[in-house]
Formats: sequence, structure tokens, C-alpha cells
Amino acid sequence: MIQNLVSLDLIKIDMNTTRPHLIAPSMLAADFAHIQHDVELVNASQADWFHIDIMDGLFVPNISFGFPVMKAIHQYANKPLDVHLMIENPDRYLAEFKAAGASVITVHYEACTHLHRTIAAIKELGCLAGVALNPHTPVHLLKDIIADLDMVLIMSVNPGFGGQTFIENTYTKIRDLRMLSKGVNDDLLLEIDGGVSLSNAAGLLEAGADVLVAGSFVFNSANPTETIQALKAVDINVHTL
Ligand code: DX5
Ligand code: ZN
Repeated sequence: MIQNLVSLDLIKIDMNTTRPHLIAPSMLAADFAHIQHDVELVNASQADWFHIDIMDGLFVPNISFGFPVMKAIHQYANKPLDVHLMIENPDRYLAEFKAAGASVITVHYEACTHLHRTIAAIKELGCLAGVALNPHTPVHLLKDIIADLDMVLIMSVNPGFGGQTFIENTYTKIRDLRMLSKGVNDDLLLEIDGGVSLSNAAGLLEAGADVLVAGSFVFNSANPTETIQALKAVDINVHTL
């Protein structure tokens, strides 16, 4: 186990200087028959986080994987696990996801009746706390919780499947979120998930994104290591609001 290498120090970035963006390959698109190989590929790459998609067949019309697979990834991973819970009533499982290796836990706005309580519970576990928004959910609904969040994940596809087409309205949502968080939570990380590729990465970063999730674009490419490198090298130094 090399989990001791993984700490929240690896996650917090200094938002007062430049805003280097993070790359989080989605392991949903990895080869589950050779998961150790793909974890070690990400370890050796310029990726920052492992994005872990958990689907329950209720909140989304698909089932991905659960704790045994996540623990197997964690066993070999030397970078933080960024866990995206596409599940109903996530409060039931937060402690178990922490125990399985989560450093960041993101729940869906649409799946939480008592979101403030859920966010507090994630933070009490020592994880960074994120909220994900489906494509139809307006950013302004986060107004009264945004000061308490470490991250907002904007879904740029409908959650449930990898390999879908990017939704263009995402750019507007990123800018809206940056306006909403300005002066209230300037450290807020903004993650974009779904259909991310080299064709939209620069635009997303320019609009104000900090973390780019990429699944099929990375793992279906001829050379995933070079693809991660290319996403990391997309050149944008400052966010213009
Ligand atoms: C979709 C997941 C995404 C997905 C991204 O519900 O949340 O993380 O794995 O896959 P791509 O990058 O292929 O759209
Ligand atoms: Zn995801």
C-alpha cells in the first residue's frame, strides 16, 4: 500500500498565484481486466487525480463499480482519488468511501435533500467536499452553500456513461459559477466532467475551470500518457472573469 503518499497537501493548490489546472483521468474508461496496469500508467503520467465514477443504477441509468474495485485502484494509486458519487442518498456510504481511499468526495445536488449536512459530513471525514450539477441544474441554486464547498463539478454530459458528446452550455455555467463564487469563495475548485478533449480544454480553462476530467479521450487514445501530457500542457495562465 502506498496510500501514505496521498495527502490533501497534494490537492490544495495556491489559488492566489497562478491557477495551474489539474487533470483527472476517469477510471471508468480504464481496462478493468488490467486495472493495475492502468493505475500505474496514471501514476507515471502528469495526471493529478484519479477520477472514480460510482453509479448505483438509480440516480443514473447505469451501474459502474463499487468498493472492491475502488480499493483495488487505491492499493496501487499514488495520487488522490477524486470520487464522484452518482448515487441516491450518498450519506449512507460516505465513511465507507473514505475508508476505501477517497480524498475528494463529490455528491450530486439533485441527490441530496440535506446538502449542507452532507457537505459537513464529508469535511468531518477529512475529505474535500464537492457538489455536482447535472446539465439542467442552474448554478445559482448553489448560492447559499457555495461558501462551504471545496469544489463544484459541472456535468458537461448527462451523468451515467462515458464517451458522450460535450454540452456547449457548459461554458456559460462555468462563467456563472465564477461570478457566483467571486469574493465569497475564491479558492473554490471548478471541475468539468464529460466529453472533455483537446478540442475544448483551452476554452474550458479560459472560462474558469480548474480540474478537467477525461475518460474515453485518455484511455481510448493511442498513447494515454501523451494524451494526459497534452491536456496538462494546455496553456492558460490566468482566468479572466
Ligand atoms: C459520466 C462520468 C464521467 C465519465 C467521463 O457520468 O461522470 O466521469 O467517466 O467520461 P468521458 O470523458 O468519456 O466523457
Ligand atoms: Zn465523473
